[in-house]
Amino acid sequence: MAKQRVLSGVQPTGNLHLGNYLGAIRNWVKGQHQYDNFFCVVDLHAITVPHNPATLSADTHAIAALYLACGIDLDCSTIFVQSHVSAHSELTWLLNCITPLNWLTDMIQFKEKAVKQGENVGVGLLDYPVLMAADILLYDADKVPVGEDQKQHIELTRDIVDRLNHQYGKPNQPILKSPAPLISTDGARIMSLTDGTRKMSKSDPSDLSRINLLDPPDVIRNKIKKCKTDPVRGLVFGDPERPECNNLLTLYMLMSGKSKQDVAAECQDMGWGQFKPLLTETTIAHLQPIQDKYKQIMDEPGYLESVLHDGRQKASEIANQTLRRVKVALGYSLPT
Ligand code: TRP
Repeated sequence: MAKQRVLSGVQPTGNLHLGNYLGAIRNWVKGQHQYDNFFCVVDLHAITVPHNPATLSADTHAIAALYLACGIDLDCSTIFVQSHVSAHSELTWLLNCITPLNWLTDMIQFKEKAVKQGENVGVGLLDYPVLMAADILLYDADKVPVGEDQKQHIELTRDIVDRLNHQYGKPNQPILKSPAPLISTDGARIMSLTDGTRKMSKSDPSDLSRINLLDPPDVIRNKIKKCKTDPVRGLVFGDPERPECNNLLTLYMLMSGKSKQDVAAECQDMGWGQFKPLLTETTIAHLQPIQDKYKQIMDEPGYLESVLHDGRQKASEIANQTLRRVKVALGYSLPT
C-alpha cells in the first residue's frame, strides 16, 4: 500500500525557536518514515503582516537548512519553498472564489492578528487560511501535523473541500481530498521564558522570552539564568499556580528525552538553583548537533540550492496536476 502523504510548513519570519521545534519540526522528524512527506517554507504567508524584504530570502533558506539540520530525511521527505511553486498562488485564487467571506472573518487567528495590525490589515491576512488550504490540497495530503492553534485552519480546509466537491464534483468522484490534522500530545505547547502563561513566540519583542535553535551556549545560559521562576522549593508538573515551573520541567523532559515520571521524581526536591544549570546544560547538549549540522549545510556551496531545486521539481509536478484537476472541474479551457 502506498504511504499516506503529509504536508506541513513553517513561516520564514526570523529564527526558529524551541517552541517551533518541539511543537512542529521534531514531530515531523519522528513520524517521517511512515509517510511520504512534503515540508515547505511558507514564504507567501510571511508577507501577510509587514515584513522585511532585506531578510526574506535569507530567512527562507535558513528555515530550509534547519529542517535538514533537525533531521528531515530526503529519502522520505521533500523540502521546498512555497513561492517557488506558482500553483499555490493560483489555487488560492480559485478557492477564494468559492469561500464565503464570513468563514474568514470568523477565524480566531485572523481576529487576533488583525487587532495587532490596527488600521493596517491587508487582504492577505484575511486570506491567509485559504492560501494554507491551497498548500495542503495541492498535494492531496492525508495528514497535516500542526499545533493545536492551527486546528481551525484545517477545519476550514475541510469545509472548502466539501464545498468545492459538492458544487463542482460528481458523486463519488471528489475533486480534492479532505485532510486530517495530526496533533502531537506530548508537550506541543512551549511557553515563554518570561511569562509561563503565554506561548513562546517569534513576535515577542523580548528575545529573552525564547530560546532560538541557533542561540550559542552562552546566550542559552543567560536566558535560562534570567527566566521567570517562583519562590517555591520542589518542582512539579501541572500546578496551575506555577505555569513557569510546568513549562521549564516540560522543556527539561523534552530536551533530555526522559519520561515525565522520571523527571517528576528527579526534580521533586530540587530548588531553582540546582535545576537551572541542569536545564541549561541539557538544552545546550540537545541543540549542539543541530547547530553543527546547520553550519555544515550552510558551509557547503550549492548544497541547499540543489535540495530546493529538486524539491521544487517534485512539488511542482504534483501540484500542477491537482491544479489542472480543479481547473477542469471549474470549466476552464486549458492551454494546449
Ligand atoms: N499557518 C501555519 C502556522 O502558522 C503555517 C502553514 C502555512 C502551514 N501553510 C501550512 C502548516 C500548511 C501546515 C500546512 O503554523
